[in-house]
Amino acid sequence: MPAAGRGERLGPGAPKALRELGGVPLLVHAVRALARSRAVGLVVVAAPADGVAEVVGLLDSHGLDGKDVRVVAGGATRQESVRLGLAAIPADVEIVLVHDAARPLVPVEVVDAVAAAVRAGAEAVVPAVPLADTVKRVEPNRGGPEPVLDTPDRATLRAVQTPQGFRRETLAEVHEKALTEEAAGGLPPVTDDAGLVERFGGRVVVVPGHEEAFKVTRPLDLVLAEAVLARRRASDGY
Ligand code: CTP
Ligand code: MG
Repeated sequence: MPAAGRGERLGPGAPKALRELGGVPLLVHAVRALARSRAVGLVVVAAPADGVAEVVGLLDSHGLDGKDVRVVAGGATRQESVRLGLAAIPADVEIVLVHDAARPLVPVEVVDAVAAAVRAGAEAVVPAVPLADTVKRVEPNRGGPEPVLDTPDRATLRAVQTPQGFRRETLAEVHEKALTEEAAGGLPPVTDDAGLVERFGGRVVVVPGHEEAFKVTRPLDLVLAEAVLARRRASDGY
């Protein structure tokens, strides 16, 4: 679980993973959401490098269904945080899910579906949902008018979420290749792990995601997350 980001887009305050939702840090919600799945045996958290002890303390003080949880220091990019987390997973683990700490409310059905698709033979699996908005490609010109290049057919687009699931071997291999390429001054880091698999020619499949697996990115997302959590607590004692 990459959890080492600052949360710049959320505005001033603690690192995003430590910001609270219903009185509980986002990170704790996200770990619990994964731990709820019978497919998950171990959670490795990549924490902000200066916050490892704090994260260990937080996870100790919140009940986590008896699942094994480990904490490592994350890196300067999401990609680096995932690579460092992956290195802390025991060698005999064959299937790895990568889940953003910033998606605290992912339903267990999504976690189960991703794990099941990897078990059934896919090397890389991403949960995704159709887009509500029409999307245009532009020539970026921050703040100014941006010329439109084209409009992809919305029916063929998906907004991807996490957890993304992988054969461990595949994930480790593409992260190693990316590191080598970066060191040689190659391509920039990717924003999702499946993107690395695609870059190196692997096959990625999409399974249905869930609207409640959204990422807390901007202040309005926290308002929405509070509302979803309140509804769950009122209706099913979540
Ligand atoms: N992440 C990470 N290490 C980094 C950067 C991001 O582990 N160096 C994690 C974040 O903690 C988050 C996930 O990657 O759980 C998705 O990233 P994002 O939503 O972009 O979070 P931040 O990078 O924290 O937010 P921002 O981009 O607004 O600063
Ligand atoms: Mg970021």
